[in-house]
Amino acid sequence: MEKLVVKGPTPLKGEVIINGAKNAAVAILPATLLIDGCCTIENLPNISDIKISCEILEHLGAKITWNNKNSITIDSTNINSTKAPIDLTSRFRASYYILGAMLGRMGEIEVGMPGGCKLGARPIDQHIKGFELLGANVTVEKGTIYAKAKKLKGSPIYMDIVSVGATINVMLASVLANGTTIIDNAAKEPHIVDVANFLNTMGADIRGAGTDVIKINGVEKLHGNATYSVVPDQIEAGTFMLAAVATRGDITLKNCITKHLESITAKILEIGGNVQDNGDSIRVWCNKRPGKANIKTLPYPGFPTDLQPQMGVVLSLANGTSIITESIWDSRFQYTDELNKMGAHITAQGKNAFFEGVKRLSGAPVYSTDLRAGAALVVAGIAAEGTTEIYNLGYIDRGYEKIEEKFKKLGANIERVSE
Ligand code: EPU
Repeated sequence: MEKLVVKGPTPLKGEVIINGAKNAAVAILPATLLIDGCCTIENLPNISDIKISCEILEHLGAKITWNNKNSITIDSTNINSTKAPIDLTSRFRASYYILGAMLGRMGEIEVGMPGGCKLGARPIDQHIKGFELLGANVTVEKGTIYAKAKKLKGSPIYMDIVSVGATINVMLASVLANGTTIIDNAAKEPHIVDVANFLNTMGADIRGAGTDVIKINGVEKLHGNATYSVVPDQIEAGTFMLAAVATRGDITLKNCITKHLESITAKILEIGGNVQDNGDSIRVWCNKRPGKANIKTLPYPGFPTDLQPQMGVVLSLANGTSIITESIWDSRFQYTDELNKMGAHITAQGKNAFFEGVKRLSGAPVYSTDLRAGAALVVAGIAAEGTTEIYNLGYIDRGYEKIEEKFKKLGANIERVSE
C-alpha cells in the first residue's frame, strides 16, 4: 500500500503547469468511437481514469498508440465488440459515456453499471431518458445496462435536472442520428464545450454548447484525421489556487483558462487572497489568515462541487465561521471527519457544513474518501504543522497527474512511500 507523507507547514511558491481536464478527456476518448478512422488527442492528463478508458476502447476494437505520456492516436476503424467489460467500467464513473458513443456508432451496447467516487446516489435516469427519446431501447438487469436502437432519430430532450454526464451522453448519441436533437436545460461546464468542440473538429454539427440549449444536427459520418488538444483542467487549477491560499503562498498557474476560474477567483478575493489574471496564466497569493465566507456549490458557472473539499480546507483555517452548502451531491462532506482529525472544527449536517476556523491544523494519519477529498487532504497536510500521512491514494491518482511532484516543485515536503 502507498501513502503520501507530508511535513508542513510550507507556504507554496513557484509555477505549476496545469494538465488537460480529466472530465473532458474521459468523454473525448469514448467520443473517438464515433469516428470511422484515426485521430490524435493531446494534452491528455496521465491519470488512471484515462488508462482504464483506453483499455475499454481497446476491448471494443480500437487501436491505441501512445505518442508520449500526454498524447495518443486512436484508430476506431474496426470497432468489433458491443460489450464493455464490467471489471473495467465499474472502476470509474465516466464509463457511462461508452453508452452514448456506442449507441451512435453501433446502435448497440452492453455496459456494466458505472463506478466512481461515492458521493451519494448517482442515478443515470436522465441519460436513459435521453437515449429513449432518441429511439433506443434501454434495460438495466443484474448490474448491466443494455441499449439498442435500429437508427437513432433526433428529438427535443428536456433534462429534468442539470447533468454534466447526461448532457454529454445525449450529445454523443445524437451526433450521427437522423435529424436534429435539441437538449434543453443542458449543463454548461467547460468540458461540455470541449467535447462539442472535439466532435465539431471531427465533422459534427453541434451548436450552443456552453449555453443551456444545445442543438445537434445529425451528420452521416465523422471524418477523423485531425489532432485535438484537451482543454486545461478547471478543477486541477482551482485546487492549486486554493492551495496557494491555504498555505499562504504565492503560485503562478500556467496552461489554464482564467475565464473558467472566475467563481473561484471571486471567493479568493472575498476572503482576502490576491489573484492576478495574466490571460493564459494566473497568479494567486495570500499573506494573511483568510477571512470567512459562505459557499454554495452549483452547476457552472457557479462554484464547482469538485472544489468544495479544497475550499473546505481554506475555510477550516479562516478567521470566523463559514458555511458550505453542497447542492449537487448528498454525501460530499466525508472529508470533514478527516480534517477534524487534523484539528479542524467542522460540523456537517445534511447539505450544510459549518467551519469554525482554527489558527492552525496539525498533521495526522488521514484517509481519502474520494478523489477531491484526497486532494484537499494533501493541501491540508502542506498547510498543517507536523506530519500528515494520507492513505487511499487510488482516488487521488484517478484525477491528478503526479500530484506529489507538482507540490514538491512548489516547495512542499511530500513523499510517496510504499508500505
Ligand atoms: N443526476 C440525476 N440523474 C441523472 C444524472 C444526474 O439525478 O441521470 C443528479 C446527480 O445525482 C447529481 C446531479 O444530477 O445530484 C448532477 O450530476 P451530474 O450528472 O452533473 O454529475 P456526473 O456527470 O455524474 C460530473 C463529474 C463529477 C462532478 C459532477 C458535477 C465526470 C466524469 N464527473 O459527474 O466530477 O462532480 O459532474 O459537476 O465528469 C470529480 O471529478 O471528482 C467528480 C465527481
